[in-house]
Amino acid sequence: MKTLKDLFENQLKDLFSAESQLIKALPQVEKKANDSKLKEAFKSHLEETKGHKKRLEEICDALGISAKGETCKAMKGLIKETESFMDEADSKEVMDAGLIAEAQRVEHYEISGYGTAVRYAKELGYDDIASKLQKTLDEEYNADNKLDKLAESRLNEKAIS
Ligand SMILES: [Fe+2]
Repeated sequence: MKTLKDLFENQLKDLFSAESQLIKALPQVEKKANDSKLKEAFKSHLEETKGHKKRLEEICDALGISAKGETCKAMKGLIKETESFMDEADSKEVMDAGLIAEAQRVEHYEISGYGTAVRYAKELGYDDIASKLQKTLDEEYNADNKLDKLAESRLNEKAIS
């Protein structure tokens, strides 16, 4: 990689790999969640994630490159960590709390990735691509906020009981 454009394209491929891995992992995570709102949050984020993958495909098409070719090792690690957590969680309470924690790690990772990608796109003068990436970034922020609220409501329920 020599230019910012090379780096940008590399990051797009990395994000594409991250989203693809997440699409495979989310159904399993949803199955393990106990709280109905948490289940719903994973379900709706799976649909959003499919949209994120599609957007990246469209962006790569517009740039004349393939979206494939990179493996996002960070997402691989985050998913692996989630899988071992799911094996170790021994109560519904711990499962839901831990799944929220793992999912927020994933969201924060994606937020940082898309934040960078939006900046590079703007710097390179790809305004349409920047706004497409911004849409995904906004959805990642929303997903993270939703998880924040779920974590808070867990805390409130605990305080009441
Ligand atoms: Fe995403």
